[in-house]
Amino acid sequence: MKVGIIGTGSMGSVLLEAFIEFRALQPHQLFISNRTLKKLLVLSERHEGLNICRNNIQTVRCSDVIFVCVKPLQFASLIQEIKNDVRPNQLIVSITSPVQISHLENSLDCKIAKIIPSVTHKIGSGASLVMYGNRLDEKDKQILHDLLSYISKPMEIKESQARINSDFSSCGPAFISFFLTKWIDAAVEMTGSSREEITCLASEMLLGTGKLLTQGGVTPPQLQEMVAVPGGITAQALSQLNHSLDGVFHRLISTTHQKYDEDLEELDKLFDGPKINRPQY
Ligand SMILES: NC(=O)c1ccc[n+]([C@@H]2O[C@H](COP(=O)([O-])OP(=O)(O)OC[C@H]3O[C@@H](n4cnc5c(N)ncnc54)[C@H](OP(=O)(O)O)[C@@H]3O)[C@@H](O)[C@H]2O)c1
Repeated sequence: MKVGIIGTGSMGSVLLEAFIEFRALQPHQLFISNRTLKKLLVLSERHEGLNICRNNIQTVRCSDVIFVCVKPLQFASLIQEIKNDVRPNQLIVSITSPVQISHLENSLDCKIAKIIPSVTHKIGSGASLVMYGNRLDEKDKQILHDLLSYISKPMEIKESQARINSDFSSCGPAFISFFLTKWIDAAVEMTGSSREEITCLASEMLLGTGKLLTQGGVTPPQLQEMVAVPGGITAQALSQLNHSLDGVFHRLISTTHQKYDEDLEELDKLFDGPKINRPQY
């Protein structure tokens, strides 16, 4: 199988390097293009045999499956560029949540899928969210599922749930890291602890917590109960957190959804064709 990647920024590079690292693909099976040549050269220095394409059209012509890893508003012009070169048996995979499968099916004469990857795939971990368009048959779905299984846990979702699911799987590492950073900053400031030491402790704690939740058979509320003895220090701190964080997560979800809606509105204007049915959440 030949796999193309258009856009080798943060996530395009994560996918490419994870596919190679976890032996889903060998470098010679990958065809890549990016607006700026420098990023391609850095990758080709790191991975001998990688195919650097002159432009996006060449990536499309050389590949069976093509991951499109550009930002939402960079999509419409890219589609114009490649639309005469896609073939009906090719699979184009968008990694961008506000770009709808119907936007792409209306514009490209090929099979369309959407995935939301996560930076955690860098270490072969985390869930990838998968949505299949109408033109994929079972074999196509299996191919994409198998490819993603090398680097992640693929989970099929409804497109209407893409935003809220991405909040957890894809934005989540940034949100949790923000929480940790604030906590570590306070520890360093208030107790003079070594930042490195506390960061190491926090990271090990997060790894262990993740394992307990994924492999240890416990839910987040159960885990809190296991640690927080009634009347103890953790229980008192949790009560304080509960009070301080009141409404924070509702506001977080409103923010991600509002930005998504704004992007979707822009994309509706940029994409030609019939009006898109907006997902309901
Ligand atoms: N980062 C994440 O954790 C994450 C997770 C899930 C999904 N996503 C989604 O992935 C998409 C890309 O995000 P990102 O963080 O990887 O952004 P990014 O680092 O800015 O990467 C986008 C890349 O696309 C290239 N590009 C733009 N227009 C192009 C064109 N017409 N032809 C070829 N290449 C083009 C850019 O080239 P230049 O080098 O010229 O800038 C850049 O390297 C976004 O829609 C984002 O929502 C990201």
